[in-house]
Amino acid sequence: MDLEEAIRTRRTHKVYAPEPVDRETLDELFDLARWAPNHHLTNPWRFRVLGRESLGRLKAAAGPDAAGKLDRAPTLVVVCATQTGTDPVADEEDLCAAACAAYVVLLVAHGRGLAGYWRTPAVLRRPEGRDAVGIAAGERVLGLLHLGHPRQVQRVPERAPLREVVAYLP
Ligand SMILES: Cc1cc2nc3c(=O)[nH]c(=O)nc-3n(C[C@H](O)[C@H](O)[C@H](O)COP(=O)(O)O)c2cc1C
Repeated sequence: MDLEEAIRTRRTHKVYAPEPVDRETLDELFDLARWAPNHHLTNPWRFRVLGRESLGRLKAAAGPDAAGKLDRAPTLVVVCATQTGTDPVADEEDLCAAACAAYVVLLVAHGRGLAGYWRTPAVLRRPEGRDAVGIAAGERVLGLLHLGHPRQVQRVPERAPLREVVAYLP
């Protein structure tokens, strides 16, 4: 699949086959994600792949109502950005860079026939959720990537027309 086709056809998937994404493939996704642009080469992205124990802790922190959604995909990756806490410009740049890296993971996964879903579950905004997956004090959570093998063809959500989002300034 070429790059433009991958960009157009990647979709958010919420239903997955039970088989997890193997570690070798995950490492290949993260390896490519490292090539996202990042100012001052801070390499601000942090990826944590949840294992059985960490997933159990996160589900306990999420509580019974929200825990079910954490079982939807066989592979879960917490994406964070390192933050200085002292330089707001650098912190914003690092947040943006880590978001680019998260997108690379989703895009390359899709290019390899895998499915993905970027979620921002409330539990990862709470101290007990952060503790459950060992997020360091200075890190900012960008979300939880669901990855796996697709089970459904997804509908194509509309995008706003170009003229609404692009301006050519005189
Ligand atoms: C930062 C971010 C956070 C998101 N959080 C959620 C979420 O919590 N729940 C959800 O259903 N979708 C979430 N999404 C996925 C969007 O809903 C999805 O990308 C959008 O519907 C467009 O669909 P597509 O990804 O198939 O193009 C998130 C996407 C991004 C980029």
